[in-house]
Amino acid sequence: RIAGPCGMVLFGVTGDLSRKKVMPAIYDLANRGLLPPGFSLVGFARRDWANQDFAQIVHDSVKAHARTEFREEVWKQLAEGFRFVSGDFDDDRAFETLRRTIEELDEVRGTGGNHAFYLAIPPAFFGNVVGQLQEHGLADPEEGSWRRVVVEKPFGHDLESARELNGILDGVFPPGSIFRIDHYLGKETVQNILAMRFANAMFEPLWNNNYVDHVQITMAEDIGIGGRAGYYDGIGAARDVIQNHLLQLMCLVAMEEPTSFDAESLRIEKQKVLKSIALPRRLDLATARGQYAEGWQGGEKVVGFLEEEGIRKTSTTETFAAVRLDVDTRRWAGVPFYLRTGKRLGRRVTEVAVVFKQAPHLPFSESSTEELTHNALVIRVQPDEGMTIRFGSKVPGTAMEIRDVNMDFAYGGSFTEESPEAYERLILDVLLGDPPLFPRHEEVELSWKILDPILEAWAKKGKPDAYESGTWGPASADKMLARDGRVWRRP
Ligand code: BG6
Repeated sequence: RIAGPCGMVLFGVTGDLSRKKVMPAIYDLANRGLLPPGFSLVGFARRDWANQDFAQIVHDSVKAHARTEFREEVWKQLAEGFRFVSGDFDDDRAFETLRRTIEELDEVRGTGGNHAFYLAIPPAFFGNVVGQLQEHGLADPEEGSWRRVVVEKPFGHDLESARELNGILDGVFPPGSIFRIDHYLGKETVQNILAMRFANAMFEPLWNNNYVDHVQITMAEDIGIGGRAGYYDGIGAARDVIQNHLLQLMCLVAMEEPTSFDAESLRIEKQKVLKSIALPRRLDLATARGQYAEGWQGGEKVVGFLEEEGIRKTSTTETFAAVRLDVDTRRWAGVPFYLRTGKRLGRRVTEVAVVFKQAPHLPFSESSTEELTHNALVIRVQPDEGMTIRFGSKVPGTAMEIRDVNMDFAYGGSFTEESPEAYERLILDVLLGDPPLFPRHEEVELSWKILDPILEAWAKKGKPDAYESGTWGPASADKMLARDGRVWRRP
């Protein structure tokens, strides 16, 4: 899978995302020989830069964040295709310059009129940029070539704003050329959920309410909000992570087998899950939200969310969110899915744990099974990528004593191939025009529809519950599961 002649225009080149993810991924793709030799990258920003200044920025970002070795000859060839256009997002002249730059690149780099416009900018500017692209004829490809648009989250902050953004994009680009990034879908371990479920015979027979007690999906981070106060305050954990990454993970775990692995078949199945999701009646009892207070992390004293630079002292933004969702289908009736995410938690870990019911009968004495818990299948998304199956086993010795043991699959131990970084995979897919790993219009709106009532209920409640940094969230999250007779895993 190697991209054909093409180029990319990157809006928002000074942002964190461009520097830490997009630019390094482009270099890594070039270094792996997956980009065409004449690939071009046009940076567009307000700065008064020359092409060399832009090249320097990309160079620094590659040196700091690329995963592959720096090779001078790869860099030189790539950098010859760099251009910079300076201007505001509503500056006609700048977009005219962009049009001419693209024409020039088509000629000197052989990009063939194929260009992806990557909007690594706040959604408030989507309208301006997309409107300008249309006005200057940049969104319309000539016969035989393509134009695509790539958008990053936050894709709106509620259903209404998401609809508005979809309207803006759909008004200019046909559906097949809009790529919405959810970088979790670019992760090797996330795609493996589908391989595990649908390429094997042994899991699917258990994958239903006859055997599964509940599912826990956790995305925990040890970091705080870092330098992202401007983005995060007012957004919070549910919008930042549950609306996109965790609901997508839930779809992959809960969906039926798609008829094939094309984008349309996947969308149909994911959409069915999202439509079947039911919110608990008592949102106050079946959700929890928290905000980190000061504490200790990795041996260091860290400040609370309200003391972070750039955060309003009265902020009620949650940095921890947990929700219980049910799926009203024959397969999942009665099996709750618990989703949780948070910053400044015990450690960085993302996992999906499918927790099974206990055996209907145990022909052992009570004392011999004291240490036996539920069987579980844990998909370790990151770090330490792999899968664990937990089951009971006899403890070696002269008595019958049964205890939990783990059976492990680790990527490092089974594969010599390296997993591509999520952004590498997704950018390559954009350039190839391969859409299965990108959430569609309908999925984004359905996800907001699930989240909106929860966010509204929370907004009425005022302050989230405080939790000490370095712990696993507020006590209310534990109580929420205790009410259902369950406990959160401590990964
Ligand atoms: C992003 C969120 O989507 O995912 C961030 O906006 C979060 O808040 C990040 O830190 C985590 O990504 P990853 O790949 O490190 O789990």
